Order: sequence, then C-alpha cells, then structure tokens
Amino acid sequence: MSAATQPVQKTGGSTPPAPAHVGIIMDGNGRWAAARGVPRALGHKAGAEATRRVVEAAADQGVSWLTLFAFSSENWRRPADEVRDLTGLMRHYLRHEVGQLVEKGVRLRIIGDRAAFGPGMLAEIERAEAATAGNRRINLNVALSYGGRAEIARAARDLARRAAAGEIDPDAIDEAALAAGLETAGMPDPDLIIRTSGEQRISNFLLWQAAYAEFVFQPVLWPDYGADHLRDAIAEFRRRDRRFGARTG
Ligand code: FPP
Repeated sequence: MSAATQPVQKTGGSTPPAPAHVGIIMDGNGRWAAARGVPRALGHKAGAEATRRVVEAAADQGVSWLTLFAFSSENWRRPADEVRDLTGLMRHYLRHEVGQLVEKGVRLRIIGDRAAFGPGMLAEIERAEAATAGNRRINLNVALSYGGRAEIARAARDLARRAAAGEIDPDAIDEAALAAGLETAGMPDPDLIIRTSGEQRISNFLLWQAAYAEFVFQPVLWPDYGADHLRDAIAEFRRRDRRFGARTG
C-alpha cells in the first residue's frame, strides 16, 4: 500500500497548510533503467527530465522551497563511469537549464561540498546561482556532494574555531547558532520529505533540518515521478497531525 493511501489521523479543524519546504530523495533511476534493459546513464537522464517536471509542479502547487538530493557525499563511491555520467549530466543541466530557470522564476542554490567538483563545474554553479538570484517564484536547492553529518560537523568546527579565537562565548552556542552555520541558514526547515522508489531511509539528507519533517515514501521510481505523485504526497502531508512534540488536546 502506498503511503498516500494509508489510513491517516484526522484532527479536525481548519485545513492544514501546504508544505512551504519540500525535500525529495530522488531514488530509483538505476532500477528504472534495469527494468528496461538500458544503461544506468539513461535512467539518470530520465531522472533529470523528472526533475524538470517536478520543479514546475512544485511551483504550481504552492511550494516555496524545494530541496532535491541529486548527489550524496557517498555517491563518489560509485563506479567511476557512473560518477562521470552523473556529474556530466548535472553540469549539462546547470549550463543549459539556466534560461528555463530564469523564465520560470526559479532561484537555484547548490548545497553541499561544491569544492569536491572541478573548476569547470564550480564556474557553472556560480554562474547559474548568480543568473537566478533575483527569482522569487520558487527556491530550488540542489544538494550535490551533500552529506548531513559533514554539514553539521562543519558548522560545529566553525563555532569551535570562533570560540577558541574568543569571538563567541561557548555557553552562548545554542541550536540557532548551529543552524546559522548550516548551508540552509535563513531557510525554513523542510516540512515534508519525500523518498521515491519504495526505500525508506533518510540516507544522510538534511539530518538537522529534518527534525520535525513529515516523511512520505512513494513506491514510484524517480524517472516516472510527476505532478500527480507530488500532489498525492502533499495531500498525505496535509492529513498528518503535526504536533512538534507538543499535545493538541
Ligand atoms: C538515485 O537513483 C538517483 C541518483 C543517485 C541521482 C539523482 C540524479 C538525478 C535525478 C539526475 C540529475 C539531477 C539533476 C538535478 C539534473 P539510483 O541510481 O540510486 O537508483 P537505484 O537505487 O534504482 O539504483
């Protein structure tokens, strides 16, 4: 049974709002390709097409922030030819999609260890971010060479350095101080995290930020994902009773 059709708790009262920030763990490109007997690279290419559809659908469905997990810090361990295919695809996307992103009002930011990529890719990232910086319809974060633990460790290290230099009082380090050192500083935490393909794991995605996210797991493979799947996930989210650790009654 898909998450979207499971029985849900009803709390009554007014309709809960749509999620402001949606994170998606895009999974299943490889299985999509295997099911068709085609190379994995074609699965990733079809996955990139799905990405294009879903950014548009998210904007249409009132999502203000969309964070897509495109390449994890652990994905470097894949065979060299697959890493090359994936990074090549993302570089192509960055170079050729910018016009579309601008036209559609999408503000693009890359989160993750961008320094892990070569200078050519870095230049594409900076160019795309600068070109879309003025857009306001939807904020799109693409996580590349991203790992949640590494992100938290980096923020902690920065705070430790500043404390050692006497710039901040260690006793003043609180959750807000740590959150301010994350790549998502200034952004709302994700309300909804979707994972496709039937796997039910977080895989080091937005670990800090996901503290109170609702999770929806959908069995569809990422290349097949579209506007209706996103609508189902948002409908499921709106049926959830979010208490943030408190009680409603
Ligand atoms: C998971 O499928 C998907 C990825 C590791 C890469 C995600 C990349 C894209 C959707 C395409 C490029 C993205 C952009 C932003 C242009 P998998 O290979 O782990 O699939 P499997 O679990 O079925 O093997």
